[in-house]
Amino acid sequence: MSMVLAEDRDCLKAIALMGGIREPVFISSQTLAEVLETSPQTASRRLKSLEGQRFISRAINPDGQHITVTKEGEDELRREYAEYCRLFSHEGGHYSLPGIVISGLGEGRYYMSLEPYKKQFLRHLGFEPYPGTLNLRLSGADIPTRKKLDALTWVVVHGFSAEGRTFGEVRCLPCRINDIPCGIVVPGRSHYPEDIVEVIAPVGLRDALGVKEGDKAVIEVAYD
Ligand code: CDP
Repeated sequence: MSMVLAEDRDCLKAIALMGGIREPVFISSQTLAEVLETSPQTASRRLKSLEGQRFISRAINPDGQHITVTKEGEDELRREYAEYCRLFSHEGGHYSLPGIVISGLGEGRYYMSLEPYKKQFLRHLGFEPYPGTLNLRLSGADIPTRKKLDALTWVVVHGFSAEGRTFGEVRCLPCRINDIPCGIVVPGRSHYPEDIVEVIAPVGLRDALGVKEGDKAVIEVAYD
């Protein structure tokens, strides 16, 4: 479940319904307060909170403000939408993606130890990742299944700057291996080999699954 406060999300949804997705909509605090059935003070507090979470951006004038739901805000609404789809649609299924455990360049441990990434994964996946990524190599026959995953709803983990460096955006798809909640992670910009999948989890998967180099593990991805 999303970690956003329900009142904030209601406010975000109200702005989106007034036409604020990806383009500015003019809204007075009075109007917003009426729509949300609350006081203008409370409405303005919610806007501050949404702005702080980067779900909206705004240009404030004396008579009101132009508010835009950002890409992050839209993603948040889509997450809730996906939850309702899971509740009310019965067309869901799942993909199974088997792969062979291999070693990478040992960079996963470093990236997964960075606080801004850790925080966002916690927020989106509900766990703080074990420092590292488990790399799986797919067989050629399973690459079409891997490609189908691109059409599902991925979480976007934002990049950041620290110590004079920039760290890129990462996309993440919730999944499971056996019964362990995991996430497939794909770095935003770099071109990525299509037969490699990197997985994060709350635990060390080699130990938890009892797998070593060359052993098989199966990623399960549920979809609506
Ligand atoms: O690049 P490489 O996968 O070799 O290393 P890493 O990403 O820095 O991860 C450190 C070690 O932990 C590797 O042996 C991974 O396979 C393993 N790992 C794991 O067992 N479970 C995880 N959830 C993440 C990494």
